[in-house]
Amino acid sequence: MADLSIHFCDIKFCNPFILSTSICSNSTEMLGRAFDLGWGGAVIRTTSLDLANRKLNSPIISGYYSEEGKLIAVQRIDDVQQHIDAVQGEIKILKRAYPDKVIIANIEVNLNENIEGLIRRLETAGTDIIECSLNTFRLNGIDYVQAICRMIQRIREVSKSIPVIIKIPPLFTDIPYAAQSIKNSGANGITAINPIKSLIGIDIDNFIPYPNVNGSSVFGELSGYAIKPIALRCVGEIAQTVDISIGAAGGISKWQDAVEFILVGAKSLQVCSEVMKSGYGIIRDLIEGMKQYLDQKGFTNLEQLVGKSLPYIKRTSHDFQDSEFQVSCTINKHQCIKCGACYISCRDNGFQAIELDMDKLPVINSRRCRGCNLCSTICPVKDCIEIKKFVKKK
Ligand SMILES: Cc1cc2nc3c(=O)[nH]c(=O)nc-3n(C[C@H](O)[C@H](O)[C@H](O)COP(=O)(O)O)c2cc1C
Ligand code: SF4
Ligand code: SF4
Repeated sequence: MADLSIHFCDIKFCNPFILSTSICSNSTEMLGRAFDLGWGGAVIRTTSLDLANRKLNSPIISGYYSEEGKLIAVQRIDDVQQHIDAVQGEIKILKRAYPDKVIIANIEVNLNENIEGLIRRLETAGTDIIECSLNTFRLNGIDYVQAICRMIQRIREVSKSIPVIIKIPPLFTDIPYAAQSIKNSGANGITAINPIKSLIGIDIDNFIPYPNVNGSSVFGELSGYAIKPIALRCVGEIAQTVDISIGAAGGISKWQDAVEFILVGAKSLQVCSEVMKSGYGIIRDLIEGMKQYLDQKGFTNLEQLVGKSLPYIKRTSHDFQDSEFQVSCTINKHQCIKCGACYISCRDNGFQAIELDMDKLPVINSRRCRGCNLCSTICPVKDCIEIKKFVKKK
């Protein structure tokens, strides 16, 4: 079967799947269980030197659900940290017991903390990589790129050799600029993305946003399946423009998601929300699914797959303007349940290209159809509207 080992920041991972920094990477006992099941590494819960007076909000976590009740995203309103005294000991134990697993320590971009002391202690403990996150709960109104670059320089003053990766939020308007600045400052890699600032919802009876923390709430950070398209974009955009190791985080819930991130250039894959939902055991499906996929596609190792989709992604939508072709759609009348959704959508949002016949079956007027794909997007029956044939633009 295909080899899933991969090099990220010049370090060999037995497979690309690692636990993200969060409550799923909380203790030696938990990480030991995760490694035994097959995880390739872990980003340990955020380490800090100063946890004085830190009391966590309660509750911390809320869910965002599809109409069918499926959990598609998770919001947290506080960060969970651990003191360096505890983390240092845990890293030593884990590195001794699991020398082949990659241990990544996570620290915050915090210009006030004694970063130098923290880095020295993490390096001495045997940390393989340092990951720095931007904490948008606490950093407000500052130049994030400047803050990150200053942080990298301070780490480099302590250690020239320890690999440093920066976990970036998708808030930068110019991701390639941020990525290039991070590389120029001396970082070895980037994790994309940090969760996205959010307000998960509001109780419309009492006007209080969720989660209700004793009568009020606060803006939070969103993770999980719903943020995957944003994370995919960020990974792809960095891979297209900057030669740096890229790790993906955000919305990986099954092996197919993982394959997509590898295809846009990621070499390590962090998972959190799906573990919160289904536990460490999902690693079996992730590994098995990815191996079978590689075998089917004729790849002998994972490295061969990295970035394979990048040549097919144009940098801006303007690059498409010369395209001479558009798709056309056909309706499979045997599958149609005559709900009329495509007719209404095309009439009120599209190009009035769908009519209903006497039996309420939709009929496409090919002269009016612009191939926008709205009808197939909203159709509740899978594959009922097929969008595939390419026709010359009118
Ligand atoms: C409860 C919880 C705590 C988290 N704490 C941190 C943190 O302290 N620092 C950080 O950079 N990311 C933190 N994250 C974000 C995760 O590391 C990860 O980047 C994010 O959840 C996206 O991955 P996912 O979509 O697989 O969940 C946290 C996420 C959750 C759900
Ligand atoms: S592809 Fe767009 S224009 Fe064509 S029928 Fe569907 S919704 Fe209408
Ligand atoms: S949305 Fe789909 S199922 Fe509903 S009428 Fe149109 S083609 Fe038929």
